[in-house]
Amino acid sequence: MDTFEEINVKGYADEYIDPALDLFDEINRLKKEKNAVVLAHYYQEPDIQDIADYIGDSLGLSQQAAKTDADIIVFAGVHFMAETAKILSPQKKVLLPDLKAGCSLADSCPPHLFRKFKEKYPDHLVITYVNCTAELKAMSDIVCTSSNAVQIVESLPKDQKIIFGPDKNLGAYVAKRTGRDLVLWNGACMVHEIFSREKITRLKERHPNAKLIAHPECEDVILKMADYIGSTTGLLKYATKSEDKEFIVATESGIIHQMEKKNPGKLFIPAPPNNQCACNDCPHMKRNTLEKLFLCMKNEMPEVTVPADIIEKAVKPIERMLKISAQLGL
Ligand code: 13P
Ligand code: SF4
Repeated sequence: MDTFEEINVKGYADEYIDPALDLFDEINRLKKEKNAVVLAHYYQEPDIQDIADYIGDSLGLSQQAAKTDADIIVFAGVHFMAETAKILSPQKKVLLPDLKAGCSLADSCPPHLFRKFKEKYPDHLVITYVNCTAELKAMSDIVCTSSNAVQIVESLPKDQKIIFGPDKNLGAYVAKRTGRDLVLWNGACMVHEIFSREKITRLKERHPNAKLIAHPECEDVILKMADYIGSTTGLLKYATKSEDKEFIVATESGIIHQMEKKNPGKLFIPAPPNNQCACNDCPHMKRNTLEKLFLCMKNEMPEVTVPADIIEKAVKPIERMLKISAQLGL
């Protein structure tokens, strides 16, 4: 087995796996044996979604992390999500199949620079999108996700001055929806900024009945064309309830697995990106594999930890978000 240091360099425990093993059976056995729960984001590969105990968006996943009675939370997602789970359940062991499953959006907001930015607006309240580091959350007043960002802003007095970070696209969307003047950090997600307006227009000509559904991390040019805008759970619910049969999906393509499972007979087309590749995969989310999930459960490594002083500060804005969301029935 790899040492702790080797895991830190590579991001995961690398070990021979007997090809005769049925990894689904093994993971289910380990869940029972270790009282572990597997929480997976919709952008994970289909096998991981299928073995998970709970699949959801960032809000749903943090709600689950806060209430689970498992001893081990295995987070099939990216680093900031596992950190959020650890902050909410510090007494539990939180595992991430690949420690290097990061996030370009979280990386676009280094805490030392955000601290300086914040100092320029001393009378502003800080709302941070959950896609950021634990250190950034510790500097925030309220955290939000794409499911509740509009409602969180609306829950504050109209004259409250607000800094919103790190996603400028979600921030601009929330500013538009709420009519508030938000001070935005200039960050973005590499996956949601890649969609091509021209290619989507051509695709719509070939599928005139298709509805364009988009995540609010997309740029305004894409959101302006969209028939529906929502978080991953929002997009899934919209497509499932809709009478329409064809959808162009402007978010990471992993969500299409659940869309197809819940809607046999409907067509889901990934929105085309601005490059030669036909897929919209998040390279960070897709670092996790079924093999790494199995090994991390077997070895209980890599583990995600957060310093106690950061937990103490970061838990408040996350709990504030969960409280507002519960009051609003989100
Ligand atoms: P949600 O699943 O909360 O919509 O977030 C999307 C995302 O980019 C997660 O990294
Ligand atoms: Fe981060 Fe974007 Fe990947 Fe989500 S899809 S984890 S925001 S890089």
